[in-house]
Amino acid sequence: MAKGIKTIGILTSGGDAPGMNAAIRAVVRKAISNGVKVKGIKKGYQGLLNEEIVDMDARSVSDTIQKGGTILGTARCMEFKTAAGQQKGADICKKHGIDGMVVIGGDGSYRGAQALSRQGINTIGIPGTIDLDISCTDYTIGFDTAVNTAMQAIDKVRDTSSSHERCSIIEVMGRNAGFIALWCGVANGAEDILLPEKYDFNEQTIINNIIRNRKKGKTHHLIINAEGIGHSTSMAKRIEAATGIETRATILGYMQRGGSPTCKDRYYASIMGAYAADILCAGSTNRVIAYRHGEFVDYDIEEALAMQKSISEYEYEVSRMLAI
Ligand code: ADP
Ligand code: F6P
Repeated sequence: MAKGIKTIGILTSGGDAPGMNAAIRAVVRKAISNGVKVKGIKKGYQGLLNEEIVDMDARSVSDTIQKGGTILGTARCMEFKTAAGQQKGADICKKHGIDGMVVIGGDGSYRGAQALSRQGINTIGIPGTIDLDISCTDYTIGFDTAVNTAMQAIDKVRDTSSSHERCSIIEVMGRNAGFIALWCGVANGAEDILLPEKYDFNEQTIINNIIRNRKKGKTHHLIINAEGIGHSTSMAKRIEAATGIETRATILGYMQRGGSPTCKDRYYASIMGAYAADILCAGSTNRVIAYRHGEFVDYDIEEALAMQKSISEYEYEVSRMLAI
């Protein structure tokens, strides 16, 4: 099966995401079954530049599929954004006999993967981020676990919010994207959902909505605020002052990135990992794995990075209508 590829490397890069271990496990085991050796690179591109490289075999990924985080560790590495850093990374790959690489991460990590491809190291990307903000794919590793973790936490805040007849602003992650906020907003039945892609910064609309809902007899008011908007604590103070209703802010933070992956994240990550190992062993390079329109597919990295993704107008309208 392997077309000249004898050894591949694998690394995780950027923010960790639940399900990354399932992807690593699948890459390692599929590559080995294709007759190819695997080396694990610790701590992303930084670990590559530091030559933190270990041999991996089928047993080195035992007992990992259920674990959150990434067994390889991850990092953000500024040096790898430079031409000199990329050249050094490729030279280190060659020194260690690594002729193919799988990179699990987000858009930024894909740019690093593209750089490695250009330096002659066959490289394949796998979408790993809780933010769902990779345009070419409808699924990213970790999003499902993150929204389930956040949803359960928000249900708990809702209980106490109702008991105290408070307004709660709950801030969820997502960097500049509102996918986590939208999904939690709908799944938690929030009264207001603030998305970076849509929010007009008119707090008076929210204040009017809270007062109207209180008159209608609602005992709580849940506002899901996306990280890309932020400032939940100061927003809570202003809303409390304007409405006279006790308002609390909760920033969920890193708990959303941890925990045992859901079945969906384990399954999709496993298929994507196997797919990446297969196309890499078959000689592909500069491609990323995606799940689109119900199918696992792969795209050229250039093409993938040029794609656009937005919040569906219809889904956003539904989310607003359901909050009446
Ligand atoms: P994510 O992969 O989740 O989008 P980042 O944007 O932080 O996260 O990128 C992760 C890492 O990928 C960076 O720390 C850097 O090492 C590498 N990277 C990001 N952008 C580039 C780039 N333009 N060229 C090369 N490497 C990059
Ligand atoms: O990309 C995942 C993510 O958790 C984002 O939601 C958040 O903006 C960012 O990473 C936080 O990054 P760091 O771990 O560097 O604080």
